[in-house]
Amino acid sequence: MAYAAFRSIGAYVPNKILTNEDLSKMVDTTDEWITKRTGIKERHIAAEDETTSDLGVKAAKLAIERSGVEANEIDMVICATISPDYFCMPSTATIISTKLGLGNATAFDISAACTGFVYILSIAKAFIESGMKKNILIIGAEKLSAITDYTDRGTCILFGDGAGAAVISATENKEEGIIDVHTGADGTYADLLMTPNGGTGSPHDSLEQEAGACYMQMKGNETFKVAVRTLTKDVVEILADNNIQSDQIDHFIPHQANYRIIKAVGDALKMKEEQVVLTVAKYGNTSGASIPMAINDMYEQGKLKSGELMLLDAFGGGLTWGSALVPFSPLSKV
Ligand code: UT7
Repeated sequence: MAYAAFRSIGAYVPNKILTNEDLSKMVDTTDEWITKRTGIKERHIAAEDETTSDLGVKAAKLAIERSGVEANEIDMVICATISPDYFCMPSTATIISTKLGLGNATAFDISAACTGFVYILSIAKAFIESGMKKNILIIGAEKLSAITDYTDRGTCILFGDGAGAAVISATENKEEGIIDVHTGADGTYADLLMTPNGGTGSPHDSLEQEAGACYMQMKGNETFKVAVRTLTKDVVEILADNNIQSDQIDHFIPHQANYRIIKAVGDALKMKEEQVVLTVAKYGNTSGASIPMAINDMYEQGKLKSGELMLLDAFGGGLTWGSALVPFSPLSKV
């Protein structure tokens, strides 16, 4: 039996910083309001000529370097994104794979918004456990600034750009393997968070009109309430199913959407402050990239050690949700 080991992590954050102060000159808001209501202080914004695949490539290079796996051993590339280089085709994963010189590895994107990284983790786990693939590169990459309406104060204060990537490899050692991944979705809440234009669901007179109207729209307050409920329920279920107590979790890594959501979920689950990983203040909400970016932050700060147990918990547009119990299993022990 093959198990799926989470071997390595990498991330990339663009240089340009957009602060709350900057936003207060663009829309009717203040640093005080944004900090109090979201915990966000700043977010990073990609350069105009920097694409989502460019961000993904930089994160993926680090993840591959740190994995101990040769680039030519990667046999599948999956990218989670809602801000792809091209909306229909080719997939961003295919572009990333080619930029990295990964030959003819299978490559495709998935769309699960902020839950994207947990979804691709579950796909990687299934492909490896079935014996169909051996080394899978998974990437959450977002240039959300390209689909953010910078005249809408309800959304533009939240989102940022960035990418995170991981290599998931086959192992015979059960201890190294991802323990469990739960995922789910409910389209009855589709209108809470959507980019209504640009697809066949909302046809326009011209492609130019569609392209200009592809911004994210969100019913923030309703989304907030469903987020807290769903993120909490998700964790309760995955811990119970695997007979694991919350104090056995070394690092709780929730999707980084809003500090108040994270705090409410952490409190409901009785997580200690030191268990909860927080990056929302410096990156804002980077959708499918937020969880791997947070894992990478811990790794680069020396806070993530071999064998430690991570609990991932995500929620996003769709609605989608997912959680995962993941031991960190690098080949060279850290
Ligand atoms: O990643 C996927 C999932 N996404 C999320 O989980 C995001 C969930 N939602 C949120 O994080 C929060 O709902 C927001 C941060 C978006 C909004 O915070 P809120 O506490 O839910 O505020 P609200 O929407 O209830 O609005 C309260 C007031 C309103 O004014 P009135 O009607 O009370 O006069 C808004 O117009 O705050 C106003 N407001 C703002 N004021 C200053 C909304 N945005 C801003 C702003 N600056 N940027």
